[in-house]
Amino acid sequence: PPPGPLTAPPMGWNSWNRFGCNIDENLIRSTADALVSTGLRDAGYRYVNIDDCWMAGTRDAQGRLQPHPTRFPGGIKALADYVHARGLKLGIYESAGTATCQGLPGSLDHETIDAQTFAAWEVDYLKYDNCNHQNRPDADRYRAMGEALRATGRAIVYSICNWGLAEPWLFAPTVGGVVWRTTDDINDSWASMASILDQQAGLEPFARKGFYNDPDMLEVGNGGMTQAEYTTHFSLWALLSSPLLLGNDLRSVSASTLSIVKNADVIAVNQDWGGSQGRRVADFGETEVWAKPMSDGSVAVVLLNRTGAAATVATTAAALGIGGSSQYTLKDLWSKATTTSTGSVSATVPSHGVAMYRVTRAGTLAAAPASGTLQVSDL
Ligand code: DGJ
Repeated sequence: PPPGPLTAPPMGWNSWNRFGCNIDENLIRSTADALVSTGLRDAGYRYVNIDDCWMAGTRDAQGRLQPHPTRFPGGIKALADYVHARGLKLGIYESAGTATCQGLPGSLDHETIDAQTFAAWEVDYLKYDNCNHQNRPDADRYRAMGEALRATGRAIVYSICNWGLAEPWLFAPTVGGVVWRTTDDINDSWASMASILDQQAGLEPFARKGFYNDPDMLEVGNGGMTQAEYTTHFSLWALLSSPLLLGNDLRSVSASTLSIVKNADVIAVNQDWGGSQGRRVADFGETEVWAKPMSDGSVAVVLLNRTGAAATVATTAAALGIGGSSQYTLKDLWSKATTTSTGSVSATVPSHGVAMYRVTRAGTLAAAPASGTLQVSDL
């Protein structure tokens, strides 16, 4: 398979943020069913990813990983068949160490047999963690699994979870990784989410189409943040071209959570590639402007208010890199209202909230020649 099997940031669900080690095959099947019945699959969420704790505590007599005997008695291949039958893909988890973070058998020095096991189970995605690494070089450990996955011949999305130590964005794409974690773990709080956001500024040069920075999985719907804060979380993760991996309980997902994570305009910003992931283009202290160029020449913009009260946040089309026009169309991606502007992009933004727009040139380009009159000089 090609080294980079992604054409856009992966979208799906992962068990860790909501369930930790409290997982079993019924949860995975119910989650797959819920992705279909809620319309999330058709909104783009395709990966059902099992995190740590799916394994038995020992390898089998042939040295192969085995699923936990009572929580995953039907095995991983049967789960893969179940999710594939519903138009979904299955993800699994391991660690580039002697054990996973929860003390289960690790893949270090077992990369070939473990990659073959995952491929035989028809797994589509591997999140490869960093616990119990024995201080062996990061790039070597992650390259070993990248090469083992490639040798299976199966297209498996390789997600590098090399938190904390090195700068994984420097080596991940060279060892087969297509997404790489940029920070320590998120938790379901405004402070954690905002801290991770701050750590993304400056990483935009390392992402390109098919290869993405990963600011960790979504907490939307887990209960620790307000609706405004979750809207902020989702808007910015979308703008950052982050993987969009839901981390909540989809068996009981609320309408208010679905109204965030099924927003097709915001998802479209995430899935498009116009040459760069989103970046912070203005920092006024506790208010900020983040923007991402779109492939159609428009710009997606998030006006962020980190203060404890409503605040006006403003920028201009020129500051967003699409100046020079006499008129702009602004689509508010949350209210869906469309307005026109001569260049100002401004909103009263609630505390810990955002306004998110797609800004498109609508008027005459001031400096461009009229259509059909382009002069070509013979040099
Ligand atoms: C650390 C990772 O960063 C988390 O996302 C999760 O996979 C846990 N390990 C599982 O032990």
